[in-house]
Amino acid sequence: MTWLLLLALAQAAPIHEACKQCHTEPAADVESHPHFAKNISCDTCHGPSEKHRAASGHVAPDRIATREAVPPLCGTCHPTQLKSYQTSKHWTALQASTKSPQCATCHGNHALRSAKAIETSCSRCHTTRPAACAATPNQTAKVTCAGCHTPHGFSKVAPK
Ligand code: HEC
Ligand code: HEC
Ligand code: HEC
Ligand code: HEC
Ligand code: HEC
Ligand code: HEC
Repeated sequence: MTWLLLLALAQAAPIHEACKQCHTEPAADVESHPHFAKNISCDTCHGPSEKHRAASGHVAPDRIATREAVPPLCGTCHPTQLKSYQTSKHWTALQASTKSPQCATCHGNHALRSAKAIETSCSRCHTTRPAACAATPNQTAKVTCAGCHTPHGFSKVAPK
């Protein structure tokens, strides 16, 4: 098994470097993500895209996920979050083609976002919220959206 891992490591780095030549910003973002330390880079999500590279971008990369295809892509490695997300109104609305968040809407395509930054972005769609969202909770810790609306289901539940 060890040699398989070493082989994977040996192959992933050159592909990342090859993509980086033209895509410096995504490359820097991926390098800052915990994904990179786990040997996850461009080819994991977009494929090795040899023709794309040879044609200097004029041929499409191997894989570009549609909005609806992003959750199953991320879910191959994050099945718990996918399962929970698929119980949400966000997922139902996404499939109905409504403007609704999928994994990358909240987490970004390449860089890791803090929980705080994600929650600030909720307001892009939820400009007004019911008074219950501002209710003083019976606890001292700072309560976030996800504190009352369990991630990733974000159901309309009463706080515990
Ligand atoms: C020789 C330059 C070059 C290399 C190397 C390169 N790309 Fe690209 N890529 C481009 C250009 C040009 C575009 C189109 C303009 C843009 O979106 O920046 C593009 C676009 C893309 C897109 C967006 C496509 C779309 O339709 O939205 C993805 C994803 C992508 N590249 C992935 C990769 C990956 C993964 C690698 C490495 C395996 C790679 N690229 C290597 C030049 C390159
Ligand atoms: C964990 C999965 C994942 C990894 C790893 C990843 N991408 Fe992406 N990337 C996405 C998703 C999702 C999108 C948006 C939809 C799509 O194009 O698939 C995207 C979009 C892009 C785009 C077009 C829009 C944008 O955000 O710039 C480019 C260019 C791109 N990726 C290049 C790269 C390169 C180069 C690497 C490696 C340094 C990389 N990606 C690594 C998931 C990933
Ligand atoms: C090939 C497997 C794989 C894919 C595909 C993948 N991830 Fe990951 N992800 C991982 C691993 C492994 C980690 C590191 C876990 C750790 O260090 O505890 C991770 C970490 C993360 C983290 C940080 C978790 C934390 O505890 O801080 C987030 C957020 C994340 N991934 C989101 C995504 C999103 C969004 C996508 C799709 C665009 C995606 N991942 C695709 C394997 C994957
Ligand atoms: C509506 C925004 C939103 C969407 C959509 C979303 N997430 Fe998250 N995710 C969050 C927030 C907020 C956190 C941080 C929770 C915390 O730290 O309390 C989080 C945390 C995570 C983590 C870190 C571990 C954990 O469970 O706390 C991973 C991994 C992750 N999400 C993956 C995914 C994947 C995969 C998808 C798509 C199937 C997805 N997320 C969709 C908002 C979202
Ligand atoms: C891109 C737009 C968008 C973003 C960003 C977004 N949402 Fe939503 N949200 C929706 C849509 C669309 C619905 C479904 C409305 C419906 O079905 O009536 C929804 C529904 C909800 C609901 C109600 C669920 C129920 O059971 O009725 C909650 C709670 C919620 N979102 C919380 C959040 C939180 C917390 C965040 C940030 C972490 C967030 N949303 C980010 C679009 C968004
Ligand atoms: C103190 C707990 C609490 C916090 C924190 C909280 N909510 Fe809520 N939220 C609720 C409760 C309870 C409801 C149900 C209210 C009702 O049905 O009248 C609700 C309902 C909602 C709804 C559904 C609105 C509708 O019209 O159906 C959305 C969307 C929502 N919250 C978004 C958010 C966002 C975004 C945040 C963070 C900025 C947040 N909430 C923080 C408790 C909370």
